[in-house]
Amino acid sequence: MTLHKLCILGAGTLGSRIALQSSISGYSVTVYDIHHKALDQSLLTMKKILQQLVKTGILAENQLPSILQRISHTLDLKTALEGADLVSESVTEEVEIKKQVWTQVGKLAPDHTWFTTNTSYLLSSQFAQESGRPKQFCAFHFHDVFYSRVVDIMPHADTDPAMIPMLEELGRKLNQVPVVVKKEHPGYIFNTMLMALIGAAGKLLTKEVASIEDIDKSWMVNFHMPMGPFGILDSIGLDTAWHVTHSMPDAASQAFAKLLKTYIDQGKLGEKTGEGFYTYPQPNYRNPEFIT
Ligand SMILES: NC(=O)c1ccc[n+]([C@@H]2O[C@H](COP(=O)([O-])OP(=O)(O)OC[C@H]3O[C@@H](n4cnc5c(N)ncnc54)[C@H](O)[C@@H]3O)[C@@H](O)[C@H]2O)c1
Repeated sequence: MTLHKLCILGAGTLGSRIALQSSISGYSVTVYDIHHKALDQSLLTMKKILQQLVKTGILAENQLPSILQRISHTLDLKTALEGADLVSESVTEEVEIKKQVWTQVGKLAPDHTWFTTNTSYLLSSQFAQESGRPKQFCAFHFHDVFYSRVVDIMPHADTDPAMIPMLEELGRKLNQVPVVVKKEHPGYIFNTMLMALIGAAGKLLTKEVASIEDIDKSWMVNFHMPMGPFGILDSIGLDTAWHVTHSMPDAASQAFAKLLKTYIDQGKLGEKTGEGFYTYPQPNYRNPEFIT
């Protein structure tokens, strides 16, 4: 079960981070996406994170060339999967897209390859069958990889139980803290709790009970947190948050999804586009005056 080569599907926010940490941990990594622009942006994101890791003393400058050398980016799925021991999928949070991707992967991946998905709120049982290898399939869900380091391991009913200790070991090698979700549950452990917070914040905003800043301040000051629910949403990405909120049938979630859509339509997707509820790289909530 020794893993050498990992294949990351989706070169967005999370795919890039998982790929980078995998290389830092010594794995050889291929990153696949359907968009050229996403691959270019992924490399820039990785270089930016590496510089931050050097600045904070976690890595030395002379380690960077070999870390980048272990990563390759490609638009060709067959090339991406060549010799892959494990696939980690971080494509757009839409069940039809995931089904399509896993159908292709099932046809091209080597027989021994383990399959994992980083879906935030879907269940792996919704698309594991499409891969043709549901036994080799498990949810392996990261949060932000570098700052928030819990990784959820959530098998579905047909997952080979041997995957759990293998993923626990891989999670630790990737500098994460693994936790096991004993049965399928949308949102795993942390996101289930986080959605309750975000849902409440969204309700306070859409019902015009309080401003974005005052909602965030309340959370930050009382819990000694570096950001509040709207800062968190900016870091997750408002498009990803919309996919989740939009799929919830209750009126409060629908009202919040409608509000998120107004930001998305203006290209304001959060930190990754430079603007969401706050503007980046210096969002107001990081200003020490914000909570005085
Ligand atoms: N953003 C987060 O904080 C976060 C945290 C944990 C898990 N996730 C999950 O990770 C996944 C990706 O989220 P993200 O925030 O990185 O999204 P993102 O939009 O930043 O990246 C998604 C990438 O998938 C690519 N893509 C779309 N269709 C594809 C296809 N058919 N084949 C290959 N690539 C394709 C897109 O071009 C894009 O680059 C989602 O399932 C999400 O729920 C996100």
